[in-house]
Amino acid sequence: MHRVSSLIFGLGLALVAATSLSAQNPGGSAEGKAMKNPVAANAESISAGQALYAKNCRFCHGPDAKGNGPMAPKDSHPSDLTDAKWDRGSTDGEIFMVIRDGAGPEMKMKGYKGRMTDTDIWNVVNYLRSLGPKKK
Ligand code: HEC
Repeated sequence: MHRVSSLIFGLGLALVAATSLSAQNPGGSAEGKAMKNPVAANAESISAGQALYAKNCRFCHGPDAKGNGPMAPKDSHPSDLTDAKWDRGSTDGEIFMVIRDGAGPEMKMKGYKGRMTDTDIWNVVNYLRSLGPKKK
């Protein structure tokens, strides 16, 4: 029974990964590029984003967002979010889509759709933007 249920679980995961693949292509997405960030990157938004980051993202991406979180799933290699390279697209909208829809081989990072409001996700985008040398 155990073997069967884990097989079904595995198939389910593969399906999820396949259907969301278009959003996961490294190099970004046209949909994300076309999106405008509706939330001004003011101090209020950035500190809201920081609190959300600490709660949801730190254990994988690390306290300083360098991808060294202590609790990241084995071999998932969360990205350094402070370096100059955005593998999955560098516009605010593309970063928004990664957070909303998830990322990584085998989708180790689950999307936050349904767990965070769009405004919250934009707040996190604004926070990440405030960290590094990364510009659009
Ligand atoms: C379970 C661990 C995990 C959690 C939790 C997690 N991530 Fe990730 N994140 C990953 C992995 C793995 C990748 C993909 C690395 C790769 O490209 O292979 C990734 C990729 C990203 C990227 C793309 C980086 C790039 O260079 O394009 C962004 C942005 C990001 N995560 C932000 C967040 C934010 C914001 C949160 C919290 C809301 C979060 N992540 C939560 C594991 C995680």
